[in-house]
Amino acid sequence: MSPDGGDSDDGGDNSSYVSLDIQEIFSLNCVQCHSSFESYDQVIASGLVVPGDAASSELYNRITLPQNDPESMPRNLPSLSNENIELIETWINEGALP
Ligand code: HEC
Repeated sequence: MSPDGGDSDDGGDNSSYVSLDIQEIFSLNCVQCHSSFESYDQVIASGLVVPGDAASSELYNRITLPQNDPESMPRNLPSLSNENIELIETWINEGALP
C-alpha cells in the first residue's frame, strides 16, 4: 500500500479534481485560440491569473464580462456556464494550483 495513494477508492483527491476540471474547461473553450492555455506553467507565466485573487486576474475578468462586450472571452462565443466560471473563480482563489 502506498502512503500517497489516497484514502478513497472512488474519488481521488480534491486538489487534482479541481485542476483537471480547469484544464478541461480551457481545452474545450479556449485552446483553439490560446494554445498556450494547454500548459499550466504558461497560464501562470502569462500573469493572466493572480493566484489567490480572482478579482485581480485578467483571465477571470474576461470570462465574467457580458457576452456582448468586445473583450469578453471566449471571443465571439457564448460565455462559459456559471458553473464553469465558479470553478475557475474557486481555483484561482484557492491559489491556482496545478
Ligand atoms: C475565437 C478565439 C478565442 C477564444 C475561443 C478565446 N479567446 Fe481569449 N482572446 C482572443 C483574442 C483574439 C485575444 C486578443 C484580443 C483581446 O485582447 O481582446 C484574446 C485575449 C484574451 C485575454 C487577454 C490577454 C491576452 O492573452 O491577450 C485573455 C485573458 C483571454 N483571451 C482569455 C480567454 C479564455 C479564458 C478563453 C476561454 C474561456 C478564451 N480567451 C477563448 C481569442 C479567443
